[in-house]
Amino acid sequence: MRKITLIATAAFGLEALLKREIQDLGYTGLTVADGKVEFSATLADIPRLNINLRVADRVLLKMAEFPAADFDQLFDKVKTLPWEEYLTQEAKITVVGRSVRSKLISVRTCQSMIKKAIVERFKEKFRIDWLPESGAEYTINFSIFKDVAQVALDTTGPGLNKRGYRIGVGEAPLRENLAAALVFLSNWNKKQTLIDPMCGSGTILIEAAMMARNIAPGIHREFAAQAWKAIDTKLWEEARATARAAILPSGNVKILGYDKDKQRIADAMNNARRVGVDKDISFATQDIKDLRLEEEAGVVITNPPYGMNIGELRELPPLYEALNQALEKKSGWALYVLTADKSFMRYFKRARPDKIRKLFNGPIEANFFSYHAAA
Ligand SMILES: C[S@@+](CC[C@H](N)C(=O)[O-])C[C@H]1O[C@@H](n2cnc3c(N)ncnc32)[C@H](O)[C@@H]1O
Repeated sequence: MRKITLIATAAFGLEALLKREIQDLGYTGLTVADGKVEFSATLADIPRLNINLRVADRVLLKMAEFPAADFDQLFDKVKTLPWEEYLTQEAKITVVGRSVRSKLISVRTCQSMIKKAIVERFKEKFRIDWLPESGAEYTINFSIFKDVAQVALDTTGPGLNKRGYRIGVGEAPLRENLAAALVFLSNWNKKQTLIDPMCGSGTILIEAAMMARNIAPGIHREFAAQAWKAIDTKLWEEARATARAAILPSGNVKILGYDKDKQRIADAMNNARRVGVDKDISFATQDIKDLRLEEEAGVVITNPPYGMNIGELRELPPLYEALNQALEKKSGWALYVLTADKSFMRYFKRARPDKIRKLFNGPIEANFFSYHAAA
């Protein structure tokens, strides 16, 4: 099958994890840049990658990368690209993108130039006067950085964080792909007890259980490229069947989730049920003040309230102190905390963090504090 170039994108800070995931799926020759990993593949890889990648935001098919210092350059190059290999004559064309440190600063004008170039190409190719745009939606993704444009076709549709299992959520739920990244970064292995004492809708624990059971994150959802004639439906069916066959049975994991809000616990249980990991996680309504760790070793991963307003900020120190109290004398437990509140370190007195990483939950910048277990 013909070689194509794919670009998997992820939140800033998660590139190394994304690279490892792609390598683990057997791809080599990967090029890593800010927020993305580029590699050579075939069209048959598009289903597999979309279904299996846990930390990626989306998978793009790269069409070209070229200098674009003015609109003529952008228009002319886009018009030379073989869009008809992927898009149908009826395609509904949407263009999204961004421009950074470049002469073409108007994203809107770039969007209409790119669309116009494709429309002009189609009019000539198909000998038609106008495009009905009555078919499936195709999203063209562009980015211009220092006057170099990259143009790609989105294969994913709604972001890969949308696994399809999460219906009930509280305030500030964690993106599913970021939750998966936190589990990877904690190096949790399924023989260890895992607890999230402020689990909200359960995202971290559900992602961990899916990893433990080898449940592919995209198994229950649809993708934009399923509408492409260029990718045989059989390839999607095969990728799903392979993912289904790889699922491990329940049992032998100890994953516990608590929240003081019983509605959140009900949401978490329903979300876990939807993805088939309800038997792998025990959820209960419990205030963090009452957290007691029975075992001598384990892993806590949590995402406390962010403290976005003053009232909420005042409520945070007691939560951190409760965490400290539960973990202070339990040096066999590792702790991983994602919060936008930098004062966390002052209240968690057991030790200084072993590592602090800057991560993004969508537009919200947060720190991921890592406290390792004593060896
Ligand atoms: C930022 S949310 C967690 C979101 C979660 N990671 C998700 O993806 O849905 C913080 C959670 O802490 C819970 N919480 C606040 N105070 C608590 C307390 N004292 N004990 C237990 N949970 C608490 C809130 O109910 C909320 O669900």
